[in-house]
Amino acid sequence: MTSSKNMKIGILTAGGDCPGLNAAIRGIGKTAALKYGMEVYGFSSGYLGLVNNEYKKLSVRDMSGILTVGGTILGTSREKPFKKNDYNKYIRSKPEQIKENVEKLGLDCVVCIGGNGTMKTAWKLQQAGINVIGVPKTIDNDIWGTDRTFGFDSAVNIATEAIDRIHTTANSHKRIMVVEVMGHDAGWLTLFSGVAGGGDVILIPEIPYERAVLKEYILKRYEEGKPYSIVVVAEGINVPPKKNGEKRNKSAGNYIAEIIQKDTGLETRPTILGYIQRGGSPSPADRILASKLGSYTAQMISEGKFGHMAASKNNKVVAVPLKEVAGKLKVVPADLPLINQARALDTCFGARL
Ligand code: F6P
Repeated sequence: MTSSKNMKIGILTAGGDCPGLNAAIRGIGKTAALKYGMEVYGFSSGYLGLVNNEYKKLSVRDMSGILTVGGTILGTSREKPFKKNDYNKYIRSKPEQIKENVEKLGLDCVVCIGGNGTMKTAWKLQQAGINVIGVPKTIDNDIWGTDRTFGFDSAVNIATEAIDRIHTTANSHKRIMVVEVMGHDAGWLTLFSGVAGGGDVILIPEIPYERAVLKEYILKRYEEGKPYSIVVVAEGINVPPKKNGEKRNKSAGNYIAEIIQKDTGLETRPTILGYIQRGGSPSPADRILASKLGSYTAQMISEGKFGHMAASKNNKVVAVPLKEVAGKLKVVPADLPLINQARALDTCFGARL
């Protein structure tokens, strides 16, 4: 193996953006350059930059002043180079193009910062003979093998603040307010922001809800003199498919608001938080997590620990084999103590016990 001093590394950010990406780029790049004497290259727009050979050499200066900045200085995309229908039989396949570009530049490792899809692709690249290391990021916190992903804490803060603010309108107008939170097929963000924001009802994909339970719970609150309720809904909960001619927006939040108003007769309004949850400066906790994982990633490269993901377990940084991560989803376990603790506070999860 080459000594780390002569190593060249590439970094890319793929999938949806989230707070902390730049902190991670800085953590990896600065440690790689300053501690290990490596050359650092940044690829633009996720895996697209690897396919099209679009990169820039990053100096330590380029990686300064970005710790607190949201988004990603490298850009991102949802490009999936192994997707079969992207192949064209008259030109080289995208994975072949990637291999050629990596070899031409002489990269010893490509660091792939991203979510589940990114880790899956990174593992395929490793199997194709390209050294990779994965770094987990997402506001969804749904990556297997790590306790936390950076982006999650910032998004919990944003969604909680939104729920706090929605309380004032709910109280003033005596309305039922439904707040739809992101999270893809996992309920982490909804559960954490829902508990932190004091949501009366929290609906997550992992706990199937019953329409009748929602109606009973909200009417019971009304009869007990609580004329408003906050319903925090994960975007990934099951909603019935649209029927022919039905005009309903397929969003979970809109659907839940519609059925609550219909079933209870109480004025109900939906708010879809959307991309605001992914935007802006990372929270201090996310800055720290991204910096820790970034710095550890450079160490992993220097030790030749390829084909692994830098992860956080019990507050320690560890290397987890990408083979174990790829293709899995970390959802909220039904026995998570927080769920029962919230139930003890009379929070409704839409299901009968
Ligand atoms: O994975 C992060 C996430 O923000 C999810 O919570 C959401 O479902 C998805 O990305 C939306 O991403 P986009 O619209 O950028 O494809």
